[in-house]
Amino acid sequence: MSELSNKSIVLASRPVGEPTAKDFRLETSSVAPLKDGEVLIKTLYLSLDPYMRGRMSAAKSYADPVAIGDVMVAETAGIVVDSRSDNYVVGDYVCCRAGWQEYFVSHHKDPMTYKVDPGKVPLSTYLGVCGMPGRTAYFGLIREGKPVAGETLVVSAASGAVGSVVGQIGKKLGLYVVGIAGGEKKCAYVKDELGFDECVDYKSDNFGSALKTACPNGIDIYFESVGGAVTEAVAKQFNSGARAPICGYIASYNATDITKERTPFHIFGELKNPPEHKFFLVFDHYPDFAEANSALTKWVASGEIKYQETVGEGLEMAPEYFSWLFSGKNFGKLVVKVADE
Ligand SMILES: NC(=O)c1ccc[n+]([C@@H]2O[C@H](COP(=O)([O-])OP(=O)(O)OC[C@H]3O[C@@H](n4cnc5c(N)ncnc54)[C@H](OP(=O)(O)O)[C@@H]3O)[C@@H](O)[C@H]2O)c1
Repeated sequence: MSELSNKSIVLASRPVGEPTAKDFRLETSSVAPLKDGEVLIKTLYLSLDPYMRGRMSAAKSYADPVAIGDVMVAETAGIVVDSRSDNYVVGDYVCCRAGWQEYFVSHHKDPMTYKVDPGKVPLSTYLGVCGMPGRTAYFGLIREGKPVAGETLVVSAASGAVGSVVGQIGKKLGLYVVGIAGGEKKCAYVKDELGFDECVDYKSDNFGSALKTACPNGIDIYFESVGGAVTEAVAKQFNSGARAPICGYIASYNATDITKERTPFHIFGELKNPPEHKFFLVFDHYPDFAEANSALTKWVASGEIKYQETVGEGLEMAPEYFSWLFSGKNFGKLVVKVADE
């Protein structure tokens, strides 16, 4: 195969507060010829996820920061366009950690590169409902939330990639499910399309009282994705023995000094009778990923679990689309279509 040109988006500077266009730079390079065992993957869809904000900061976390000048990290769904491995042939569809770029050279032993089948569910869903966010919902609710039928589950960011799946699995398990989302349109979708029992708009003036009305028996499980004012309101309504798996707290991700933020750990820790709460990572459940993948793919293929996607167009636009996660301009899983096959 002749030498290919590859566009990528690198981190140009560490954002202070909300990332802006000047924190990223578009670069063009050429793809080196493949060595034995390598596979060339063309990115078709790029996943944009809130965790990427943490990677843009120098602060230590569970994963290393992206170095200045390095390609921004991301999972992608793509197609094999060249292979020097017996494990992959041209035309195979894969998910891999290509980052924000058009082409990626993977090694056939890379465990983060794996085949997917767009004949079962659409390719982009392997980045969302049938991928990392779906698995987060699956393990976060079932293993960390320890649900018991009849209990009340409250889900923040309920129309989003993770929250939408948490609530739908909650309904399957016989829970009374209340979503929290921003705006009437998202709340109507969560209740009418996804089948949650109620959905409360955290941007409305009467959010606290509306949440109380929506949860007449208190809250047994709170699936935490946002933090901030939403968590303050939820914290007033926990039942004894409640669980609050902390998946994330996006309201603080753009803080200029995260150590000064009032996180869910502060809010829950101050309660007289705090819920059982700890941060969990989807990768804590890595050995059981196949279980979640098979359940989610089956549910999506059969229509039992519904999903919504916001599909942006063009790699160059990725920094702009990324900001949508923090303004709520995305509706469901945010992906960027990078190229046609
Ligand atoms: N622990 C893990 O392994 C793991 C894995 C995946 C994701 N996560 C976490 O899960 C959470 C959801 O991720 P996702 O991919 O599903 O994103 P998402 O829900 O698809 O998108 C983010 C949503 O967050 C809401 N939001 C943004 N700022 C907010 C604020 N200040 N207050 C309240 N809501 C706000 C917006 O929805 P509205 O329009 O409704 O405000 C926005 O659409 C994030 O905290 C993420 O870091 C954790």
